[in-house]
Amino acid sequence: MRKKMLPSTKQKSRGARGYIPVSKTDNWATPQYLYDEYNAKYQLTCDAAASARNTKCPKFFTKKQDGLKQDWGTERVWCNPPYGRVLGKWMQKADDACRAGATVVMLVPSRTDTKWFHKIAMKRKKVFLKGRVKFGNGKSPAPFPSLVVVFTPRARRRGAAGTAATR
Ligand SMILES: C[S@@+](CC[C@H](N)C(=O)[O-])C[C@H]1O[C@@H](n2cnc3c(N)ncnc32)[C@H](O)[C@@H]1O
Repeated sequence: MRKKMLPSTKQKSRGARGYIPVSKTDNWATPQYLYDEYNAKYQLTCDAAASARNTKCPKFFTKKQDGLKQDWGTERVWCNPPYGRVLGKWMQKADDACRAGATVVMLVPSRTDTKWFHKIAMKRKKVFLKGRVKFGNGKSPAPFPSLVVVFTPRARRRGAAGTAATR
């Protein structure tokens, strides 16, 4: 019985220490309604993880350019990154970019047991999405819950709340 519940080798990511479900693609597009909701709130200007076909913003960074290596400046960034083991690097990049002036809205899987969640997301504004997101043009919901993490630069937080800094 116990053996049947373990993932097959095909489902495991290569070199991973534990069980991480692997998708064959990192191209799962954000549903437009979800992006529109956050674009209305934050007037997003740059998609940090995209291709020319799936970008949500006119300005974007591709895998080849590597959004992790680019300067996000003071852009208002949308980021639905690849969900593999590299996700922690994207969270760190968002945190660093925010400290340097960028506003970043990240759509990520709600993995509340990870280092990045405790070290980075816990200190930022979070919206735990109700239900499951249907990525791409898929009819089926994702097999995991999702979370939106919002990184707002200190100066903007102050501006929005008078003199007090808020998260
Ligand atoms: C989950 S999809 C998001 C697509 C779209 N931006 C959206 O929100 O609907 C992730 C995208 O990031 C791209 N990508 C993967 N690694 C990247 C990197 N290092 N820098 C920039 N884009 C990357 C993939 O090619 C893919 O198009």
